[in-house]
Amino acid sequence: MYAVYGIIGDPVDHSLSPIMHNAAFKELGIKAVYGAFEVKTRSLEDAITGIRALNIKGVSVTIPHKEEVMKHLDEVKQEAVEIGAVNTIVNEAGKLTGYNTDWIGVVKAFELNGVNLKGKKVVIIGAGGAAKAVVYAVKRAGASEVEVYNRTLEKAKALERAFGVKAKPLNEVNTAAGEVIIQTTSVGLNSSESPVSKEVLKNFKVAMDIVYSPLKTQFLKFAEECGCKIIDGLQMLLYQGVEQFKLWTGENPPIEVMKKVLYETVRG
Ligand code: ATR
Repeated sequence: MYAVYGIIGDPVDHSLSPIMHNAAFKELGIKAVYGAFEVKTRSLEDAITGIRALNIKGVSVTIPHKEEVMKHLDEVKQEAVEIGAVNTIVNEAGKLTGYNTDWIGVVKAFELNGVNLKGKKVVIIGAGGAAKAVVYAVKRAGASEVEVYNRTLEKAKALERAFGVKAKPLNEVNTAAGEVIIQTTSVGLNSSESPVSKEVLKNFKVAMDIVYSPLKTQFLKFAEECGCKIIDGLQMLLYQGVEQFKLWTGENPPIEVMKKVLYETVRG
């Protein structure tokens, strides 16, 4: 019998998680399939009931359900509570536990690209849903100073209160400087815009974008032109998926296979 896994979100049709996890199952000879389930907000509770009823073994959770899903689960792990979002559900005989692997994805992406965040000053652009796991990750990895620039200052202030970072308005980003800069807004997604100018990127050594479409965003192009080491958006996606796979199967996933299929799909 095949075990069933999947992603819930809205939209989900462009999600790369099915190809990534199915490639890993196939490589390891695990009898399992991973599907994409479009779930409207009004149907979220029914979808969670369905996970139990259908014995779906593991679920990825994406926008817009990462926060809302928490109240429907039997247990939520400490890190996910602190971040305020669940991106992974593990189903053990009907008991649903919520985890957050997004932050681990960020930590691993830096680690495996040879960047040690300990004692570093990190600047984060954006204060939306994705920024929370990024802020949590860089704090956990030992960053000494974290600044969050956002168009809507109040959202950055909320992160300041929750995580002890420094909130700044995006219109002051021209004065930003540090070792590492991370782009978490949707600016640059399927466009040639960057939320910061090339001048700003001269003040950093490492730049990461969480947008992966296009793979080399304008932000990363500017960063590369300034001599920064660049980390693209597929890295976080890959390593959050690697952690999910471990939680669901207890096995070490074939990382290179997952990576290859992700890059091939995005490059087309
Ligand atoms: P996600 O969950 O993907 O992070 P989100 O919560 O809607 O999505 O957050 C999107 C982020 O991109 C926010 O930081 C948002 O800034 P605001 O908080 O001011 O809305 C940022 N963003 C989106 N469009 C932007 C733009 N044109 N200029 C600057 N920031 C933008």
